[in-house]
Amino acid sequence: MNVSVVGSGYVGTTLAACLADLGHDVTAVDIDEETVERLNAGETTIHEPGLDPMVSAYAGSSLKATTDHAAVADTDLTFLAVGTPAREDGSIDPSGLLAAAEDVGEAVADKDGYHLVVVKSTVLPDVIDEEVIPTLEDASGKTDGDDLGVAVNPEFLREGSAVDDFMNPDKIVIGTDGDGRALDRLAELYQPLISDWDVPSVETGRREAAMIKYANNTFLAAKVSLINDLGNICKELGVDTYEVAEAIGMDDRIGEKFLNSGVGWGGSCFPKDTAAIKSAAEDADYDPAMVEAAIEVNDVQPQRLLGLMDEHVDVDGKRVAVLGLAFKPGTDDIRGSRAKPVIEGLQDRGGNVVAYDPLAVEKMAEEFPDIEYADSAAEALDGAHAAAAVTDWPAFAELNEEFDAMAEKVVVDGRRIISRREGLTYEGLTW
Ligand code: UGA
Repeated sequence: MNVSVVGSGYVGTTLAACLADLGHDVTAVDIDEETVERLNAGETTIHEPGLDPMVSAYAGSSLKATTDHAAVADTDLTFLAVGTPAREDGSIDPSGLLAAAEDVGEAVADKDGYHLVVVKSTVLPDVIDEEVIPTLEDASGKTDGDDLGVAVNPEFLREGSAVDDFMNPDKIVIGTDGDGRALDRLAELYQPLISDWDVPSVETGRREAAMIKYANNTFLAAKVSLINDLGNICKELGVDTYEVAEAIGMDDRIGEKFLNSGVGWGGSCFPKDTAAIKSAAEDADYDPAMVEAAIEVNDVQPQRLLGLMDEHVDVDGKRVAVLGLAFKPGTDDIRGSRAKPVIEGLQDRGGNVVAYDPLAVEKMAEEFPDIEYADSAAEALDGAHAAAAVTDWPAFAELNEEFDAMAEKVVVDGRRIISRREGLTYEGLTW
């Protein structure tokens, strides 16, 4: 099929490259000239395993990039994969998505017959019904359900395994409100995954499809917060939460995944999506008790880590190492990273923070220019009076004699990643 993807961020680029890999002709559209030039040169701006080889293999042939939205008119369907950042109050800002919808609408205004627009961006149901569809209709002069199709097809990619998640999804969610043409096109598009690899496809309404994305992320975030809440209780009772989690995960109804307790969740999605759901609930005069609790527990975890450190060291005027800055291993993304409240808490206590991360130093230095950054974990630990492990980079599990160079060997582990050894005052956050 001939497909256009508007937005060449993390989701849009992964989608475009993977669709090219499934055999489709893909046009990526982005307003940023540098992004477009780099894509056409076979390069990406994103750290994502497996993505660069695909982009370089298909660039210039089945994957082309342009800043010109007019190109979408020649394609069978257009994905809107534009970011929807959070506002101060937690609600989402759909302005980028609406600008893209307007450009796409104008581009297909003169197209004869039907054009299908597929919303990939994460937005609440009302944004689709009250803003995206009217914008598309106004700009194109076409009518939803007539010569304009609008479908909702959320994405469940994780950073660090986006390509693998795209190619091996648990499900494909297609919301069409019964538009058979939209359903047929998306079924054809995903045919290699649905038919050949037996991936279940969920055919549902557009509002339901939009909500499935939020419910999925909120459920996972709440699952981690629940094990963190239980973890804090376990710690108080002198119980190892990881042993408890391993056993309860054997119950199919609970499941073993997302039971790693510690300093909490970050990233570009869980914090934003839980805040958006909370804000939407409050707008509807509903008190979202569980969602609020999930967010609250997540805010508490970095403070618990700092409290455990306080029990052993007064960090005022002392060097303190922070190991890990990315919101999770395998990425340089620091959005929502738990390292931020940890650093702030240490600074409030008068500590001299020296931070290390294999990938994320550059990004954190833009937000926290006043702390020291080390080139290795060993350098960060050298002379430190305490250390906090915040990201579970596998290399941190190998640290051993590096701790010998600490002035006081106090380590608070927020991710159960540090190997315990003699001579170390070791505190696990929930164990
Ligand atoms: C998440 C979802 O997992 C994806 O399905 C979804 O598509 C994506 O958001 C999105 O909406 O785009 P991602 O943010 O990349 O993916 O990262 P996760 O691997 O889910 O981790 C999120 C956070 O939870 C990380 O900070 C991680 O350290 C934390 N986490 C995860 C835990 O603290 N414990 C766990 O057991 C699992």
